Amino acid sequence: MKIIVTEKLAEAGVEVLRQAGDIDVDLRVDIPRDELLKIIDGYDAMIVRSNTAVNEELYKKAGKLKVVGRAGNGVDNIDMQGATSRGIIVVNTPDSNSVSACELTIALMLAAARNIVRHQDRLRKKVWSRNGLMGKELLGKTAGIIGLGRIGALVCTRLQAFGMKVIAYDPYISDSRFAKLNAEKCAELKDLLPRADFITIHTPKTEETIGIIGAAELAAVKEGVIIVNCARAGLIDEAALGAALKDGRVAAAGIDVLAGEPQAVSPLIDCENITVTPHAGADTFEAQANVGRTIAEEVLASLRGEMVTNAVNLPNLLPNELGRMKSYLYLCEVLGKFYHQLEKEPVEKIEIIYQGEVSDLETSLLTRAVLKGLFEPIMKERVNYVNSTLIAQNRGIEAVESKKVGGADLNRSVEVIVSGRSKNFSAAGTVFSRNECKILQVNGYSLDLNPSPCMLVAMNEDKPGMIGQIGTILGVSKINIATMQVSRDKNNNAMMVMAVDSVVPREVLNMIGGVDGIKKVSFVKL
Ligand code: NAD
Ligand code: MLT
Repeated sequence: MKIIVTEKLAEAGVEVLRQAGDIDVDLRVDIPRDELLKIIDGYDAMIVRSNTAVNEELYKKAGKLKVVGRAGNGVDNIDMQGATSRGIIVVNTPDSNSVSACELTIALMLAAARNIVRHQDRLRKKVWSRNGLMGKELLGKTAGIIGLGRIGALVCTRLQAFGMKVIAYDPYISDSRFAKLNAEKCAELKDLLPRADFITIHTPKTEETIGIIGAAELAAVKEGVIIVNCARAGLIDEAALGAALKDGRVAAAGIDVLAGEPQAVSPLIDCENITVTPHAGADTFEAQANVGRTIAEEVLASLRGEMVTNAVNLPNLLPNELGRMKSYLYLCEVLGKFYHQLEKEPVEKIEIIYQGEVSDLETSLLTRAVLKGLFEPIMKERVNYVNSTLIAQNRGIEAVESKKVGGADLNRSVEVIVSGRSKNFSAAGTVFSRNECKILQVNGYSLDLNPSPCMLVAMNEDKPGMIGQIGTILGVSKINIATMQVSRDKNNNAMMVMAVDSVVPREVLNMIGGVDGIKKVSFVKL
């Protein structure tokens, strides 16, 4: 498999990629766009930072692309919907550079409050003068934080150490998080603006946050406020900020992210009372080594089909859940795979019931695994955990999950019920303590079956000679039987499931189907 790295990646990360025996790595840092579009078709994964637009134009040319690794946090340069619909997994490193971004925020705040860059400019011009550059202390002032996520919280505790009162606006976090951080909650942004002596923004760039500080908000701030943006360009209306910096309503600003980046074209750069850096929030040795290593490991794991903790277009997993999830993911996929190989009716609804310990896991991911299993036998396109729910939605299939607590006999079980137009189908299984998967029921027939790559499933009359006749046909056809199970109902029907060592060709299935008493025979590939 091949990975292309299009932006600078720390040596620690490159080393992880090079050590992987099964991967070819091409370091094409800052490759021109047209060249990237020409060669991207040859790659299974790409690692980018914020300057590579991963969009429809690129996806159309990237036929093999399976994984996009964002070496950093923000994914606003990645078209997530385009990735998801193609089953491309997007992974990032949301925690690896938070401290560095936080520390640059504090640095910009202090630099702005103490006019550090302007002092330096004068000295470089051999002017020794402090005139007109009186600074401001942080002690006793109010800091207004917009977005109290990872970085917002780190900034909050550090500003409190300076003796500041913190008020914050973030409509998406709980009151308990505000309380834990000892930050006063502002129900609306307009409650924060007139009270804060310093404002710092730490939201992602979304439809809702673009221009979150515009002309109207700047008209509402406290006279002489200092504003910092170390999050994303576009959150502040730069023209409005430029005007407010000019008329003194905003005393100073510290800005790490600018319109037009990575070109230095923003008019803000030339404002006197601003301290600017070129999106350097994550540029520390520590953050880059962290980010590089983490993204390399995540991309490799994703390429190898393993679960990762930071997949942006998949539900988040806690690191300690990964191990326990593996066997359940496999079981769920297996249960999903039966339907289309045994039944020919289109699916209208699929219900997945989780019982016992499994219901404490991230079941939305397990449901994705069931759907992946359901579609794989009938779809040519790539189906994976990323796009399986979208495929269900697009096909008008209702996917419902429910949970049952307790249950002594099957306390780790998953049951899948598929409703077709005229009938229902079901399959159930469990994971035993040593991560051993078992299929316990198919269509109401009780079984105790280890999933096997090739299985023959026959429905027959419950009468003598059936097993022997099928065995003879398989033997003559040189197909070895590994294990076998029979289960029967009260109406003289039986289900026979044979694990076989090779694919059963159509003509052999037809021969078996022709045996008197055989009602239906199918080959199931897991
Ligand atoms: P995060 O997801 O942990 O936190 C973002 C917070 O913003 C969340 O708590 C969310 O509820 C809140 N939020 C979302 N919409 C909001 C709205 N409309 N109003 C108020 N709050 C809202 O993200 P993070 O890791 O803390 O990163 C914050 C920002 O910093 C992101 O934009 C990220 O891309 C950026 N970042 C920049 C650098 C850099 O180099 N300058 C480095 C790392 C991260
Ligand atoms: C991020 O979102 O992580 C930052 O933009 C930092 C970066 O990509 O270097």
